[in-house]
Amino acid sequence: MLVSVFIAISLDGFIARKDGDIDWLTGDDSEESEDHGFGDFFNSVDALLMGKNTFEKVLSFGQWPYGDKKVIVASNSLKNLPEIKNANLQLINGSPGEIFTKLEKQGYKKIYLDGGNLIQSFLRDGLVDELIISIIPVLIGDGIPLFGEVNQDIKLKLVDTKSCNNGIVQTFYKVSK
Ligand SMILES: NC(=O)c1ccc[n+]([C@@H]2O[C@H](COP(=O)([O-])OP(=O)(O)OC[C@H]3O[C@@H](n4cnc5c(N)ncnc54)[C@H](OP(=O)(O)O)[C@@H]3O)[C@@H](O)[C@H]2O)c1
Repeated sequence: MLVSVFIAISLDGFIARKDGDIDWLTGDDSEESEDHGFGDFFNSVDALLMGKNTFEKVLSFGQWPYGDKKVIVASNSLKNLPEIKNANLQLINGSPGEIFTKLEKQGYKKIYLDGGNLIQSFLRDGLVDELIISIIPVLIGDGIPLFGEVNQDIKLKLVDTKSCNNGIVQTFYKVSK
C-alpha cells in the first residue's frame, strides 16, 4: 500500500496557524486558477486518511469537499463520527503501524495521508512513501509544523520541482527506504 502526502506549507514550514487557521494558503494572490495537480492526485487515491484535527477543521468549512471518496479519520478519542450527507466515512484508531496494517488488509492500494501530527507519526515509523509539498511564498512565523522529531535521519529523493506562476513551488519527494 502506497502512502502519499499532498500538502501545502508556508515557506517557514507550517501547515496552519497555531489556532488552525489556513487563511494564508492562497499564494501571492496573483493568478489562481490551477489546482497544482490536486485533482489528478485525488483521483489516483483509494482513500484519504486524516488526523482528527484536520477532520474537525474540514467540518468547520460547512461543506463536505470530498464527495463520496472514502475518508478515514484517525482518532483514538472519538467513539463515532458525525453523519455527513453523501460522505463515505470510516473511523480508525491505533498506532501508525496498526492503522497501516488494518487499511492494507481492507484492500487499499494508495492512501492520501493528511494532517500534521498524523503525517509526522507515519514518517517517524517509516510508513510514508512520497510527499508532494506546495510551498506558499509567505512567512507566518508560528503555527502547526509539517515536520517534527524523528528517531533517525529520513532521506528523501527529489523527483520533480515545479514553479507556478502564483509563486508556489511544488516539490515531489520519494522517501528512501
Ligand atoms: N496546509 C495544508 O495543506 C493542511 C493540510 C491538512 C491539515 N491542515 C491543518 O492542520 C491542522 C491539523 O493538523 P494537526 O497536526 O493539528 O492534527 P492532525 O494530524 O490532523 O490530527 C491529529 C490527531 O489525530 C489523532 N490520531 C490518531 N492516530 C494518530 C496517530 N497514529 N498519530 C497522530 N495522531 C493520531 C489524534 O487525535 P485523538 O486524540 O483523537 O487520538 C491526534 O491528536 C488543521 O488546522 C488543518 O487545517 C493543513
